[in-house]
Amino acid sequence: MKIGILGTGTVGEALATALIRQGHNVMMGSRNVTNEKIQDWVKKTGKGALAGTFNEAAAFGDLFFICLNGAFAAAVVKELDPEHVAQKIVIDITNPLDFSQGNPPRIMERYMTTSLGETIQHLLPTAFVVKTLNTINYRLMIDAREVNDGKHDLFLCGNDATAKNQVKHFLVDNFHWRPENLIDLGDIKSALTMEAIVPFWVQVYRSIGTPLFNFKIVH
Ligand SMILES: NC(=O)c1ccc[n+]([C@@H]2O[C@H](COP(=O)([O-])OP(=O)(O)OC[C@H]3O[C@@H](n4cnc5c(N)ncnc54)[C@H](OP(=O)(O)O)[C@@H]3O)[C@@H](O)[C@H]2O)c1
Repeated sequence: MKIGILGTGTVGEALATALIRQGHNVMMGSRNVTNEKIQDWVKKTGKGALAGTFNEAAAFGDLFFICLNGAFAAAVVKELDPEHVAQKIVIDITNPLDFSQGNPPRIMERYMTTSLGETIQHLLPTAFVVKTLNTINYRLMIDAREVNDGKHDLFLCGNDATAKNQVKHFLVDNFHWRPENLIDLGDIKSALTMEAIVPFWVQVYRSIGTPLFNFKIVH
């Protein structure tokens, strides 16, 4: 499969590398295709690894991930060419966090009533945005078995049932998630509560001293 990764941070690089290992072709997108980080990644990764702009990575992917700094994600998405995005699945991992008042962070004020996930879906009306993976550490995203043999829960939401189903299969096939642990929270409006979990996640991280944990819903 051809996959676009918009973002060259820890998350973008971890996802891109894991997906190359799974045999996919991956283009990692950045503001500037000549930046050292993206060029180093292409060099060290080799076959199947490509560098592009954000727009080129979106165009390249049969599906694409958004793993951008939450403060700038909407501005980047706004500039994507609608032609490159139409009918594609977009997996949104971003969190609109505000660290200006210390740790744990708060949700950025402008996303307190309309989430970043919902904003992205609004900006990309012809795409199928699925919000997921934003409530866990990047190491767990790419291999659920890192914690409790994969027995813990991951949330997702989005407006299109078929897209959500495809994303579930993608997570199971590529990142070792168990189907029974994928909890569908409904339409993209649920991104508001999925993003709201994250300051709490940071607080738990600070208390227990490791980012390798997750939530498990027991009933
Ligand atoms: N770290 C985790 O384990 C984790 C877990 C769950 C969710 N998340 C979320 O995943 C997202 C990515 O996190 P990250 O730590 O990998 O990366 P990050 O440092 O938050 O973001 C890196 C990306 O943001 C872009 N960016 C930065 N400033 C920009 C600007 N002014 N205009 C346009 N783009 C800009 C960078 O572009 P360039 O490539 O051009 O530099 C880069 O691609 C965040 O929203 C984060 O909250 C992270």
